[in-house]
Formats: sequence, C-alpha cells, structure tokens
Amino acid sequence: MKIKIITFKTKLTDFDKKLVSFFILENCKNLQIIEIVGENLIFQSEFPISPRNSSKELLDKLTKIFPDKNIEIVSERDISLEEWKKMRIKSLTVGKFTFKPIFEKEEREENVIYLDTLVGAFGIDNHPTTILCLEMISNFVNSFKSAVDFGSGNGILSLSLAKISKSPIIAIEVFYNYCLEIKNNCRINNIDNIFIFNTDCMSFVKEVDILVANVPLSVFLDKTSGILNSKFNLGIFSGVKKQDKQKFVDLLENNHIAIDQMFEKEGWLGVLVRNNKKK
Ligand SMILES: C[S@@+](CC[C@H](N)C(=O)[O-])C[C@H]1O[C@@H](n2cnc3c(N)ncnc32)[C@H](O)[C@@H]1O
Repeated sequence: MKIKIITFKTKLTDFDKKLVSFFILENCKNLQIIEIVGENLIFQSEFPISPRNSSKELLDKLTKIFPDKNIEIVSERDISLEEWKKMRIKSLTVGKFTFKPIFEKEEREENVIYLDTLVGAFGIDNHPTTILCLEMISNFVNSFKSAVDFGSGNGILSLSLAKISKSPIIAIEVFYNYCLEIKNNCRINNIDNIFIFNTDCMSFVKEVDILVANVPLSVFLDKTSGILNSKFNLGIFSGVKKQDKQKFVDLLENNHIAIDQMFEKEGWLGVLVRNNKKK
C-alpha cells in the first residue's frame, strides 16, 4: 500500500464542516490547513491509495458532491507505508508511560509500550486529549478491578491501563479498522487482558471500576452511547473543547456526576470525575 499526500486549493469560504466530513468519510488522514493566501485556503491530506482509488476519482467525487465549491489539486506525491509510519508515529513519554514506534524496538525495553499503525487510528498523533488522559491515568490510577476505554482509537489508553493492571480492560471502538489496529498493538506488546468490542455503546457493561472516554462532546451527549448513565467509580474524560466547558459541566451535573479535578491543554479539557450514582 502507498500513501498519497495531496495539497488542495479552495476558496476560504468553501472550507466548511461538510467538506471536512467528506474527507473523513473518504478515510483521509491528517487533514491540515497549510496556509491562507488572500481569499484562498491551501490544505493537505493523506490518503491510502489503491488501484480503485486515484486522486482524479477523488476530485471527481468532490466536484460531484460539491458542485458549487471551487476545489483544485495543487500538488501530490506518493510515499511508502513505511515512510508514512515514520512520519506519523513518534516516541512519547507521559508520566510513567513511554511509547515507541515498533520499528524502533530494541532489546530489553521492558517498560516501553510499542505502537504500530495499520490505518492511522486516532492515538498515534500525540493529540492534547490523548496526553490529558495519559496524564490522568498516570497520576490517578494505581490499580483497578476492571476498566472500560470508550472510543479506544488505536488502543493507546487501554495499553497504558494494561501496564498498571492485569485486570480486564474493555476497549470499545466504533470503527472496525481501528479495532484491528488495537488488536495488532496488543499483539506486539504481548497483552492479553484487553477485550475489544466493535460497537458504539457501553450499555452491555453493568458496572466498571475505571471508565476512560476520550470522545467528542456529541458522544457524551448521546444517551445511546451509555457513557454518562453507566456505573463507574472513577471516570477520566476528555475530548471536549474549552469553549464547551459550561455545557460539559452542566451535562455531568445533570447526570449526578461530580467533577473532582479539571485540566486544560491547548484548548482541550480533561476531567477526573467520581460517579455519585454508585454511592
Ligand atoms: C478522540 S479519539 C480517542 C482515541 C484514543 N482513545 C485516544 O485517547 O487517543 C475518539 C475515538 O472514539 C471513537 N468513537 C467515537 N464515537 C464512538 C462511539 N459512539 N462508540 C465507540 N467509539 C466511538 C472514534 O472512532 C475514535 O477512535
């Protein structure tokens, strides 16, 4: 497999939520704005390419779906999957956890958690919300009887929890491809206490000791996800932007969940919560 890095030009006003959703649904990775030049916006994205999926087809689809938008390809280049992995997975240390790309594996590194990527699942990019969760897990979790990692992405938070305890950890992820990535990360770290569920809700979990959820506010708001009406002792939540702080605080309060501590990183919130419903 190869990865195509494509740079696009569009009108500043044409770059909206619908366009971003299109790229997400087309399995694009690392969509980023490069620069704004006058009325135009230059953005870039990475696509896994196959014979079924060329940049021309992508542009045709874009034009068909958004006939009123003016989008053109400025440049494109192909890189190998290995090069792409080297660009995307970087070593990282947060609190007591150290992560390294699997291709940097050396002997006798007992405490390192290795990461590989198959599809670029969320968790490889050292995102502030991932870091916030890792910091909270590192500082506040010393042991547990059971844990849920809701919205596990590449499994980075589950893998960290597995460094703390051999107790069962349920990783819940809506994207099947991401589940395969979690499975692979468990394999390369010889971890056998993470149980992966390809689903979008946690209603099948009766009660859990630690609940970790790094998902957007919309998922916390969605009652069918079951996050806020589940029974847990300690919750580690992130994925909500600072500007939505009050909405999130109200939502937790309405669900009788008490905030213990709140943290911020680069405009994102992380909260440590106790669930009052269990008392
Ligand atoms: C912000 S990422 C977090 C990934 C990883 N836990 C981390 O901290 O880096 C959110 C993840 O939740 C998944 N997700 C979103 N809504 C979900 C839902 N209702 N059920 C299960 N997974 C969901 C997404 O596919 C994505 O992988």
